[in-house]
Amino acid sequence: MAASLSGAVAVVTGGNRGIGNEIGRQLAARGLRVVLTSRHVDQGEAACRIINAVHGDKRATTFKLEVTDGGDIQALAAHVAAVFGRLDVLVNNAGIQIDPKGSRALNADLQTYRDTFETNVLAPLALIQALLPLMKKNGYGRIVNLSSGLGQLSEMTSGTPAYRMSKTALNALTRIVAAEVRGSNILVNAMSPGWVKSDMGGPFAPRTLEQGADTAVWLASLPDGGPSGGFFYDRAPIAW
Ligand SMILES: NC(=O)c1ccc[n+]([C@@H]2O[C@H](COP(=O)([O-])OP(=O)(O)OC[C@H]3O[C@@H](n4cnc5c(N)ncnc54)[C@H](OP(=O)(O)O)[C@@H]3O)[C@@H](O)[C@H]2O)c1
Repeated sequence: MAASLSGAVAVVTGGNRGIGNEIGRQLAARGLRVVLTSRHVDQGEAACRIINAVHGDKRATTFKLEVTDGGDIQALAAHVAAVFGRLDVLVNNAGIQIDPKGSRALNADLQTYRDTFETNVLAPLALIQALLPLMKKNGYGRIVNLSSGLGQLSEMTSGTPAYRMSKTALNALTRIVAAEVRGSNILVNAMSPGWVKSDMGGPFAPRTLEQGADTAVWLASLPDGGPSGGFFYDRAPIAW
């Protein structure tokens, strides 16, 4: 990461556990001030205490954010503006995979799709809408969307239909926003962490949290002129 990012401000959603927590830890280790959001204040505070024990008092702070709650999102934007006056990085990490085991598109409950899209697609969109003005103000921004290989159209097959479709839509959102902000030094990319050992990935996943977080942290710290509107795995472009 560029030394100039020291003191920069990052928001990571779902920062209380899993890959988001590790992304926050790695960004803090590189000198960023990290707002680890969580819908559980106590868990957000606990995550910050661990980071601050290493890096000092204010490196990580938390903010209560249920990502599907528009009021929470507006409050977060106001908080970041008031406390930091800038936002350099937004990592849309919070996500759910709630397809019942064995679920198929043809028999899945539509409510599963609605709930999945609320969290995995509409929440990142709402967060970008709310926080982009702070990036534009400084002519700098890096937005990273945690997608999945399961969202790749080129590899698309059956199983976990709501989750797959939501991540494909998140990829589309990534490209659309990247196109809309092109030329403003705001770079917008999607990444797949791979199959990672977390509550979502389960105990048999082959990849560590560190491996899963690495490409997100890399995208969060791209130099000016870096790629935008791309989809990455292990720091390399992958097919949509
Ligand atoms: N693990 C994998 O193998 C894998 C593979 C591909 C992509 N991904 C993606 O990577 C991201 C992180 O996954 P993970 O493995 O770290 O998952 P995880 O361990 O299940 O953690 C999910 C995080 O998202 C938060 N979250 C979910 N819904 C939320 C909501 N409505 N409001 C606020 N926070 C919410 C959770 O908060 P709570 O603690 O409050 O529930 C938690 O912090 C997700 O977008 C996921 O789709 C993961």
